[in-house]
Amino acid sequence: MRIHSYLLAAAVSLGTLSTAAAQSSAELTVNADKGEYTISKHIYGHFAEHLGRCIYDGLWVGENSSIPNINGVRTDIIEALKDINIPNLRWPGGCFADEYHWMDGIGPRESRAKMINTHWGGVVEDNSFGTHEFLNLCEVLGTEPYICGNVGSGSVEEMSKWVEYITFDGESPMANLRRENGREEPWRVKYWGVGNENWGCGGNMTAEYYAGEYRRYATYSRNYGDNKLYKVVGGPNSGDYHWMEVMMKDIPTGQKNGVSLHNYTLPTGNWNKKGSSTEFDENEYYTTITSAFYMDELITKHSAIMDKYDRNKRIGLIVDEWGTWYDVEPGTNPGFLYQQNTLRDAIVAGIHLNIFHNHADRVHMANIAQLVNVLQALFLTDGEKMLKTPTYHVFDMFKVHQEATMLPIYLKTEHLKDVKGREYTQINASASMDKDGNINISIVNSDLKNDVDISCAINGFNAKKVSAKIITSEKINDYNSFENPEKIVVYDFDGAKIKGNKLSVKIPAMSVVTIALNK
Ligand code: AHR
Repeated sequence: MRIHSYLLAAAVSLGTLSTAAAQSSAELTVNADKGEYTISKHIYGHFAEHLGRCIYDGLWVGENSSIPNINGVRTDIIEALKDINIPNLRWPGGCFADEYHWMDGIGPRESRAKMINTHWGGVVEDNSFGTHEFLNLCEVLGTEPYICGNVGSGSVEEMSKWVEYITFDGESPMANLRRENGREEPWRVKYWGVGNENWGCGGNMTAEYYAGEYRRYATYSRNYGDNKLYKVVGGPNSGDYHWMEVMMKDIPTGQKNGVSLHNYTLPTGNWNKKGSSTEFDENEYYTTITSAFYMDELITKHSAIMDKYDRNKRIGLIVDEWGTWYDVEPGTNPGFLYQQNTLRDAIVAGIHLNIFHNHADRVHMANIAQLVNVLQALFLTDGEKMLKTPTYHVFDMFKVHQEATMLPIYLKTEHLKDVKGREYTQINASASMDKDGNINISIVNSDLKNDVDISCAINGFNAKKVSAKIITSEKINDYNSFENPEKIVVYDFDGAKIKGNKLSVKIPAMSVVTIALNK
């Protein structure tokens, strides 16, 4: 199906939502000749925690399930993840990671220890999905595992042995135990988080105390053979700039490769009443959008601190938890964090990914929270049914930017304010050049009513061909349901025109667009 911007404008019917702004034009300059930094594919990373129905039901159904599976993991989700080139998968948490004892999750499943998942719903965790199941899944997916160690309630010895169990190829107690459990060859695991949110659920530590702990854990997490670890410091909560300063100052550069950052997008900013995933008015929509734009400020300010200690930008900013966080769906377990995903979530995802691209010099990895059935999920499942959310489709449409060269842009667009007086821009964008020399430009129009005419100069590039794709819908709170799983998908979009190095395009209200320019 092809979408014409004119038809869309006529079709938009917003119910209670009303006009936000009158501006309907913007200017974009893409500097095709000034690309310097690569957009790491790891910005498109994912996160699967033992939380609610993410691992169990969402991914793991077991080998004997009637739901089609590969080694116990749902085939439909494996295939859909391959389609979007999933670059890495973070596991086992989250808050769960700092209560997880990996030895409980190895060996014969029937004799694995059970535990209470105290953080998430107080349910019994039977450890049937453990280290082998996770790493085998990563192999099937062709994705890099990113494991988070337990600093909050574990020990240096426990984490050190986990690294040895997984990655050591020689004779050692842990490597031999792995072999006894059926895995001869070591796995390669590069990415290791040293704790999670250690300012909160990971131990309620001060920055100074955690930095000292980190140094001990990192010392004994060894490189075996050519498996060189990329160690991620448990970084700040949103705008805690003191925490970042201490991580950069107190931990030697040689002991760390990345520092994490967590920030969630809340419509109301109130953790006790976050707002519904599907029922929201115009004001709540725009406060969600300004919250999403806050990521740009966070990265800019944290990067400035990192620059003081690391001028050459060797340490990565790892945004390993981001996404929308709403009240749970009525009637579901409050500890399971199950929420629907509307066109608003697609807009939020597009804004974040554009921000990450534009900070490709510092942001080396990002992981949306979470993969299945939890928070801003890419998939929802109900028994054997599975649907792809609007957020999935953004990851699909934007995958052309993975490992491409970020092209600096200049954007002149309307600056608007939400009811709290916080600013956002009507348009947000990013551009990159792929390895074949073609350009992709992604643009988000978060305005609920106004289409925006964009005139765009592409410096240093003459395009022969233009094509585009779009994600949009009639209403901002439209979503994919099990009854109508393809209400929001990616459509071809014929609204972009190119003449030499001048591109013109009308971006429909509340849409996410990717334009491809071929030489
Ligand atoms: O993603 C849900 C939770 O949010 C994670 O477990 C934790 O790290 C964060 O607070």
